[in-house]
Amino acid sequence: MGGHKGFVLWFTGMSGAGKSTLSERLAIGFKARGYQVELLDGDEVRTHLSKGLTFSREDRDTNVRRIGWVARLLARNGVIAITAAISPFAEIRDEVRSDVTGDSTAFIEVYASAPLDALVERDVKGLYKKALAGEIASFTGVSDPYEAPSKPEITVFTSVDSVEVSERQIIDYLVAEGLIDGGSEIA
Ligand code: ADX
Repeated sequence: MGGHKGFVLWFTGMSGAGKSTLSERLAIGFKARGYQVELLDGDEVRTHLSKGLTFSREDRDTNVRRIGWVARLLARNGVIAITAAISPFAEIRDEVRSDVTGDSTAFIEVYASAPLDALVERDVKGLYKKALAGEIASFTGVSDPYEAPSKPEITVFTSVDSVEVSERQIIDYLVAEGLIDGGSEIA
């Protein structure tokens, strides 16, 4: 069982940029291929592990460090740990990266990139509308910073490319890096 090496697939990007959608699809695909996978989704983590944390800089950092810690433990035990939190601050993402790679575990940062205009237009959860109306304070991309990664392993352009195309791009990268088998189709 589970002879493969674990790694961390770390999504970052603004709310609605497609982190959850892509990470869920990938998790399903990896599981179907017999890989051990855990998905740490921002919204879900905030209902359990990070319950009670706010969206202040300090609490976001705590949230992201917790996700990083769990992902690190999972990955070093052979699990593909997929994370999908905004993780807006480069410093904390880099801190997690250095902890994970310090265990000789691969850390693959996936930047779900989409212009704010597109996110506001789609506004799946209706939160941008509220944030723009001043009803939600410190909203990432509107009234709180989002620091895009300077050197992500992968950037997916989710307002331009289909989910399928972005998913394929990620899988192709992982196969090329030898992190997953390329033998048969995942997605
Ligand atoms: S993070 O900054 O700490 O990484 P996380 O991914 O856990 O954020 O949570 C983001 C989700 O919380 C968003 O997708 C959105 O649904 C919700 N949310 C509520 N308030 C905010 C806010 N002020 N800024 C960003 N997201 C918010």
